[in-house]
Amino acid sequence: MTTIIGVSGSLRRGSFNSSLLRAAAALMPSGVELRIGSIAGIPLYNGDTETSEGIPASVAELKSAIVAANGLLLATPEYNNSIPGVMKNAIDWLSRPPSDVKTVFGGKPVAIMGASPGGFGTILSQNAWLPVLRTLGTKPWFGGRLMVSRAEAVFDEQGKIKDDAVKKQLEKFLQGFTAFVQS
Ligand SMILES: Cc1cc2nc3c(=O)[nH]c(=O)nc-3n(C[C@H](O)[C@H](O)[C@H](O)COP(=O)(O)O)c2cc1C
Repeated sequence: MTTIIGVSGSLRRGSFNSSLLRAAAALMPSGVELRIGSIAGIPLYNGDTETSEGIPASVAELKSAIVAANGLLLATPEYNNSIPGVMKNAIDWLSRPPSDVKTVFGGKPVAIMGASPGGFGTILSQNAWLPVLRTLGTKPWFGGRLMVSRAEAVFDEQGKIKDDAVKKQLEKFLQGFTAFVQS
């Protein structure tokens, strides 16, 4: 069984990105499981807290889930043409202590997708992730892109994808990424 850990960068109950990730879990190719991790509960990074209390339990839990998975799938919102602070904060915590970076992120296949109500579907935040993924020593997948634009018309009120074309794009994206993970 191949395992992929998915992380949404939004804390919002009605998040399009979390909906996209849940839709992905249901569309994984056979023999591949998408586990959904969470950044909820991760505090703001503070070096003093790290020194006095160590790594918070919420961070340690997500770190272990990433280590245990064969690949990492990020569903990123876009804020002000870049990475939302809460998501970058989570990754910053996950990169502590530096001696663990290689174990958590080194050579880890990573794919980025995202959804936004606007017309560009998170293209700029996806681009903004690239230097971060490089710094962490990950193995980003560049074989496909998934930018879900006009998200209000794509998801229904329960967060299910109602646009068949987007569902097909997501399925193809997941097939490409899992083939990369398994290669
Ligand atoms: C502070 C802030 C900045 C935003 N900037 C952008 C942006 O640059 N581009 C964009 O497409 N959407 C932008 N949005 C709209 C988000 O794409 C939208 O809130 C989206 O629903 C967030 O993802 P979520 O549904 O997963 O929470 C911004 C929203 C906020 C709150």
